[in-house]
This record gives sequence, structure tokens and C-alpha cells, in this order.
Amino acid sequence: MCGIIGVVGSSDTLGTLLEGLQRLEYRGYDSAGIALVRQGQTWRARTAAGTESVAALREECLSAPSGFSSGIGHTRWATHGAPEAINAHPHLDCSGNIAIIHNGIIENHTELQEQLEARGHHFTSVTDSEVLAHLIEDQRQLGLELSEAVRQSLLLVRGAFALAAMDANEPDVIVAARRISPLVVGTAPGVTYLASDVPAILDRATAFYAVNDDEVVRLGPEGFRATDLEGAPVRLRQLQIDWDLETAEKGGNDDFMSKEINEQPDAIRATLLDRRRRNGAICFDELRISDEELRDVKRVVLVAAGTSHHAALVAKYAIERWARISVEVDISSEYRYRDPIVEIGTLVIGVSQSGETIDTIQATREAQRRGARVVAISNIVDSSLAREADAVIYTRAGLEVSVASTKAFVAQVAALELLALRLAQLRSTLEPKDIDALFLGLNAVSAQVATTLDRRSHVELVAKELLHAHDFFFLGRHVGFPTALEGALKLKELTYLHAEGYPAGGLKHGPLALIEPGVVVVAVATDPSMHEKILSNLAEVKARGASVVAVATDDDEHIDSVADYVLRVPASEPMFTPMIDIVPLQLFAYSMARGLGRNVDRPRNLAKTVTVE
Ligand code: AGP
Repeated sequence: MCGIIGVVGSSDTLGTLLEGLQRLEYRGYDSAGIALVRQGQTWRARTAAGTESVAALREECLSAPSGFSSGIGHTRWATHGAPEAINAHPHLDCSGNIAIIHNGIIENHTELQEQLEARGHHFTSVTDSEVLAHLIEDQRQLGLELSEAVRQSLLLVRGAFALAAMDANEPDVIVAARRISPLVVGTAPGVTYLASDVPAILDRATAFYAVNDDEVVRLGPEGFRATDLEGAPVRLRQLQIDWDLETAEKGGNDDFMSKEINEQPDAIRATLLDRRRRNGAICFDELRISDEELRDVKRVVLVAAGTSHHAALVAKYAIERWARISVEVDISSEYRYRDPIVEIGTLVIGVSQSGETIDTIQATREAQRRGARVVAISNIVDSSLAREADAVIYTRAGLEVSVASTKAFVAQVAALELLALRLAQLRSTLEPKDIDALFLGLNAVSAQVATTLDRRSHVELVAKELLHAHDFFFLGRHVGFPTALEGALKLKELTYLHAEGYPAGGLKHGPLALIEPGVVVVAVATDPSMHEKILSNLAEVKARGASVVAVATDDDEHIDSVADYVLRVPASEPMFTPMIDIVPLQLFAYSMARGLGRNVDRPRNLAKTVTVE
């Protein structure tokens, strides 16, 4: 997730861009850059200084020439190409006149780059985005004005984009366009702005407009003109913005946690973008081990902590079911101290949102010392875990600010199930048609999550009715069990109430003794193959006075007989259900915490990343 900003017609271009990039840093900060453009001159500065990238850019810009009324800026969250200055945006075309910035993923960048290089274009970066500069250059050389050149170029592109382009031969014009990645336009007298979100231009623009998918906007000092990708004029929807800056940084949400819960469909979609080669092979972000080694894996061990451990538990079911490899899941802090046995052919998967959790890093190091190959699942590019691993699949959830992990969890499950499908592909344990069907199904999950998010008001009502409760059991079977564990963790860490996740089949082995009136049992009951058993578990707890909340599918006609409250979700392939079923549980924990007056973004005693033992 990157941040983009642009301004045209300004008397404070540099100030506008640098201030906006400061506000956009939360979207990613491994590198940053600015391009200032006027007739016949494009001036560019780029830095790659991690969290100090924008500050370093500010230094660089001290030497910028004056007198530019237009420019664009970018802060990068690397998805393709290491976070180095050479890969920082803006990217230029061969002439050096055209500058572009981009947030998103160009899925067909490889074939486009091959075609452009065959036509003599020279690339200077290892990114997908640079193809846009050269595509636009080609169109400009046909005599098209910039907005038409951008539009024609985007007709060739597959993937997600929020982009802005400028050309020193067409000064005081910025052409922007959007598909999936967010983009807003702002206006003030004599100045027009664009940005990834409102906060970046909140105190500069006086009116704000949303750009929708496949819309192209030509910005000039006098205002803007928008068309669809076919060139037909469109009207941009004006946004009613009465936020203060802090609210704006939360995208209009009350807090980062609700913002990040709402970003889950995009987090899943972005994590799954551009994951298949033309030959159908499912691909990683970084791969430093051979397909043969992956094919010959005899045993998989997943190590993780907290929410990431719950995602790892889901992966156990998927890898064993699809790739037929024996899988073990361990809490990182336990694995590293239990003198683990690592035979030849062991693959260790470290799962970590931050990629900096000390126990998970030390666990994977211990495994490597004993001869294992390591795959990292990380949300932060170039994190310690990613750097030391033999292969990496990045979740692309974007920065997760709230201590309670939400969008990272669903993105981790998506990435891990992608890995399970890759292993199945290499070992031919699934037919290609089944892999295609599962891959398609995985890509449909983001829409199902969006549907579930729309049902939040019912969850809020249930939370209000249970606000007095103090004891919660979360139950599930199969992949519903890790979902239950994650639901319990969310409630614990947000409300400070006692909540325990348990396999539903384990109730009779002890916990049933705790069930009495006042105890709330929350069950994940969406897997048809386990449904009868879950219903009988719920009948047992109900008979002993528990209040029962059930997560159930829209078509479940039996659940009402044993549940006091039902949180409905769309039916899905069982292996995908953790990404969907967790949503009402996140919303339940969130609503309970808000009802109890807790700080949902900064729960007591907790930190976002545990970098000390
Ligand atoms: C989950 O809501 C917590 N923030 C915590 O359990 C977290 O998942 C755990 O500390 C692991 O962090 P990581 O994914 O960055 O390794």
C-alpha cells in the first residue's frame, strides 16, 4: 500500500507535496520521491531511508529549483523490487520528461516490459510500476495529449492502480486514474490536488471528490475533467468532509481498529493479486529455494505467536488436505526451546505480521541452524523475518496500526492457503482443475467479507445485550477451532474479560463443568460437515444455562433451535471460512470493548510488536 499526492497551480508546490507525504507515511515508508514539472523541465528527488525516507526527502529538496507550480509525490510500500532509491517513485520514461507515481500492482507488467524493451525502451528499476511511464511515452510519441495517452495505456494494463502522470511537454497538467487503489481529488481556488486519501490534502483543498474504478481525471489549475476508460465524460461524486485531521487519518472511522476491519476485503484482494504466472504456476514474492526442494518437502512446521499462530493453525488443515504433507504448528516461544527435531526435507514457515517478533525470528533461526529451509509470511517488506528466510510471501494488508490484529490475520490465511495450493501444484496432489477452482474461490472471499461487514449493526445489538457478561467460551471444530481461538483472543485483548477458545469436541473433557447461567458460549458453526456435532455441543451448553451466540451461514435453518443469537455469514468452501467467520467475532469484540469504554487501538499492557522476550 503506497501513498500518492499531486498538486497543480500551487504557489507552494514543494510544501504541499512534502506535507502530504508526511501524512501518507502510514501507508508505507520504505522509500519516497517527488517530481516537479514545468515547461521543458522535470526535476526529481528520491530517497530510501526506511521510516526516515520522507525526512530525508525533505533534505534532498532543499536543493530543488524554485518556480514550479506543479508536482507529484510518492511514499512507497514495496511490493515488487527491493525498497531502494532506484525503485522509488516517481519513475521516468526514456526521455526523462514523463514522470509517474503508482499505488497498486500491474499484474501483466512482465509481458508489457518485454514488449516495451523490444521497442527499444530502457528500464532503470525492478518494479512493475515503471511500465506505465514507458507505455505513456509510446502513446505521447503518437501525438496524443497526456490524458488520452494515459487512457490508452491503461486499456493495456491488468491489475490495481491509483496513478498520476505528468509531462514536461504539457506543463500544469496532471492525469490521474484509479482501479481498486484509493484516489481522491481536491480543489481550491486556482489549485487542484490529488491524493490517496483525504488527510494528505485536508488543510489545503476546500472540496473533495471520490474517483471510482476505471475513471481518468485531467487536473489543471482551473479544476478537473473526468472520463471513464472508454473516454466518456463522468461526474465525480463530491465527498462531504467535516473531519478534523485525526479523524481523517482513520479514513473517517472512530479508530484505527474499525478502519482496519473495514479494509479486510482490500487486504485479501491485494494479497492475492498477481499470484499466477501465465503457465498457471502460483508464485511467491521472493523465492530463494528451488521448486524441486519445495516438491520434496517431507514435513512442514509452522511457528508463530498470537493471532499469527491462529492463522498458522488454519494453514495446517489446508496444507494437509491439499498437499498431503504432515504439518505441525508450534508457538514460537515453545519451539525455540524444545530442542526440536529437524529431519531432512523439513520446511519451516514463520508467520508474522511485523516480521520482527523476537520469538518467531529466533524460532526460524533455530530451525535454519538445524538444516530446515524457511518460508516467511510477513506484512512488512524486508522485515528481519523476510530478509533471513529462503522464500517470502508478503501479505499486502497495508500498515496495521491497531494493536489488535485484524486485516493481517485474514491476509495471512489467504497467503498461507496460496502456499498450500502451490505445494499441492508441485506435488500434483490436486488436479489442475481443482486448483483453479480453489484459486477462484479464494479470490471470491473478499466479496464475502465485504458482505459480512455490512451486517455489523446486528452484531452491535448482540454485543449490547451481552455487555454484562464476564465469562466467554469460543468453540469451533476443524478450521472453526482456530477461528474460535482468534475470536477469543480479540475479546480478551480488547475488553480485558476472560475468554477461552476451545475445540468443541473437548467440552466434555472438562470445560463443561464451567458452564452455568451467565456464561456466554460463542460457536463457529459454518462447516456443514461438522454441523450436527456443533448443534449437539450447543444443546449441551444451553441445557446448562449458557447464553449461546452462533456464527452460522445464511442458509442454516437449524441453528435458531440452539442459539440465542445468530451472526449470519455467506456460505463458503470450509477452508476459506476463517477469513469470513472471524469478521463477526472481530466486530463483536470491538463493540463489547467500545461499550466498556476501552481504548480499542491501544489495549492496556500490550504492544503492537513483541521484540523482547
Ligand atoms: C494480536 O491481536 C496481537 N496483536 C498479537 O497476538 C500478535 O498477533 C502477536 O504479537 C504476533 O505478532 P506478529 O504477527 O507481528 O508476529
